[in-house]
Amino acid sequence: MQEEGRVHIVQARCPHQEQSLHSAEVAGNHLYCPRHQYGFDLDTGSQLDGACGPLKVYAPIFEGALVGIEVPDER
Ligand code: FES
Repeated sequence: MQEEGRVHIVQARCPHQEQSLHSAEVAGNHLYCPRHQYGFDLDTGSQLDGACGPLKVYAPIFEGALVGIEVPDER
């Protein structure tokens, strides 16, 4: 998703109850889940009220017109 010219790449589902974030609202640097409206910081992924775990956020990698991510090895 883009917010004020910045690209943010986050996990597709909310860490609270797996709601799709496809239609999440973005306001400033915060993303709000459409189901219970929990807010997350788009830079750190932290939940604004500490009500659930963090959202996974990934640093974008730009190559020409393509945007990708480096997925960390979580093994
Ligand atoms: S499912 Fe996203 S806040 Fe509850």
